[in-house]
Amino acid sequence: MAVVLILVLLVLASVLFHALSPWWWTPIASNWTYIDSTLIITFWITGIVFVAVICFMAYCVYRFRHRPGNQAAYEPENRKLEWWLASGTAVGVAAMLAPGLVVWNQFITVPDDATPVEVVSQQWLWSFRLPGADGKLGRSDTRDVTPENPLGLNKNDTAGLDDVIIEGGELHLPVGKPVRILLRSIDVLHDFYVPEFRAKMDMIPGMVTYFWFTPTRTGTFEILCAELCGVGHSQMRGTVVVDEAADYQAWLEQQQTFTQLLAAREPQPAD
Ligand code: CUA
Repeated sequence: MAVVLILVLLVLASVLFHALSPWWWTPIASNWTYIDSTLIITFWITGIVFVAVICFMAYCVYRFRHRPGNQAAYEPENRKLEWWLASGTAVGVAAMLAPGLVVWNQFITVPDDATPVEVVSQQWLWSFRLPGADGKLGRSDTRDVTPENPLGLNKNDTAGLDDVIIEGGELHLPVGKPVRILLRSIDVLHDFYVPEFRAKMDMIPGMVTYFWFTPTRTGTFEILCAELCGVGHSQMRGTVVVDEAADYQAWLEQQQTFTQLLAAREPQPAD
């Protein structure tokens, strides 16, 4: 009887904890309401199955408890029951996976008018690069990383000379404009995660991963690293600020370009 009670309490406590929990998700700040829909679908399917399975266990423990003279029936196979369980599970799993395929496709199908924004990770710092007036990011290579050139830009690529470099500072984005986020790591695996944007992706040394989103409200949001990357992992935080267009322009004008950064840092040739 104690086991039955514990099982029922487990279900009640789980449902109550969910309903009263203060750790609910953060208000969304991007266009990815689809991500929330897929989470909600998964939540209801797994939640209902969890409650049903535990209640069924409690019922069986009570109904088929030991009583003198009772004998168990031997029934190793039941085709009909197996068919129902297998098809029910298949439908449930498909309902959880299928929306993800559609949403993933949208997540990585970048609209043509999206502005490229590069995020560069290293132990344990977030840096950023925005295209300059030409709207293009120049080529880069981790092999070109030096103290003067922290993001490893190719100095011979003119497209990169006007790129705006933000080393370890805040990233600003204009509200309502789609951005193509390009992710690069110059040492180990990291993961760019801003909970309010419902967007998250691994950053892999040697390749550029990407996704896109449109910030839908202004505010200051925290960037978290979501991949264990060494002792500083938990302190690897960054900040992204979503601004109105005018505030964004004012901020952008204060940032330094790659050319300015090189001029400030490279030893001047003696003449
Ligand atoms: Cu970077 Cu964890």
